[in-house]
Amino acid sequence: MRALVTGASEGIGRATALRLAADGFEVAVHYRSHQEDADAVVASIRAAGGSAFAVGADLAHREDVSRLAEAVRGRWEVVDALVHNAGAYPRVGFADLSPDAFEECFRTHVFGPAELTRQLLPNLSRANPGRIVFVSSVLAYQGSARGSHYAAAKAAVLGLTHSLARELAPAVRVNAVAPGSIDTAVLAGDTPERRAERERVIPLGRVGRAEEVAATIAFLVSDGSSYLTGTTIAVNGGLRIG
Ligand SMILES: NC(=O)c1ccc[n+]([C@@H]2O[C@H](COP(=O)([O-])OP(=O)(O)OC[C@H]3O[C@@H](n4cnc5c(N)ncnc54)[C@H](OP(=O)(O)O)[C@@H]3O)[C@@H](O)[C@H]2O)c1
Repeated sequence: MRALVTGASEGIGRATALRLAADGFEVAVHYRSHQEDADAVVASIRAAGGSAFAVGADLAHREDVSRLAEAVRGRWEVVDALVHNAGAYPRVGFADLSPDAFEECFRTHVFGPAELTRQLLPNLSRANPGRIVFVSSVLAYQGSARGSHYAAAKAAVLGLTHSLARELAPAVRVNAVAPGSIDTAVLAGDTPERRAERERVIPLGRVGRAEEVAATIAFLVSDGSSYLTGTTIAVNGGLRIG
């Protein structure tokens, strides 16, 4: 089984790459700028007896997306799983949000992943079945003050998940995860007060770990989720219920 995990140089993507490798997948470890971190992920997969390679691309740039698809196709005829995890959460007030920043956010989270999916479709369709997981966010439902472009893009990701699930079935299953507050670089700027405030509103009383999102993604690409398509699993400690 072969899986491409985007944004796997750190955070949730890194945890997912390591988890899928432990589950027996060969893994394409995608990164944008942190090649040394991606190489370290590849090294730990190989040290544990697994198989992996690193591949760089900025998903906001169409030529890069094509190069990424070509690099993966060049190695694998069949792609069993595609995990669209790469992303960034730039905080900007709406009045200061430039059209370029808005567009870049959509290129990274929506247009790039959509085009990557389109280009890898023949390879995914050869799997039995192909499995796609999009990483959305609780903010797709709740909105984000100082992150309107991000929340809108993450909501678009769900629209894409629903549409592709219908259109690509039964050859490819398409699902999403919607994480809440997960302890990665995204939360690194939190003051202790901000962290305490976050945790106060989470019924499970703490932020999540990248490995906990990875475990849910691993389920969605496994045969254990064989009757799931078009669904979104919330991984948020109860932050949003229903
Ligand atoms: N952490 C949370 O609380 C949380 C909550 C909800 C949803 N999410 C979502 O979960 C996903 C992973 O987030 P994370 O917290 O693990 O973040 P992270 O630790 O900052 O990792 C982000 C990854 O995405 C890559 N990336 C960013 N922009 C990219 C671009 N334009 N093209 C290609 N790759 C790009 C980064 O690559 P380089 O570092 O190599 O540049 C990195 O590997 C994101 O989609 C995020 O929106 C996170």
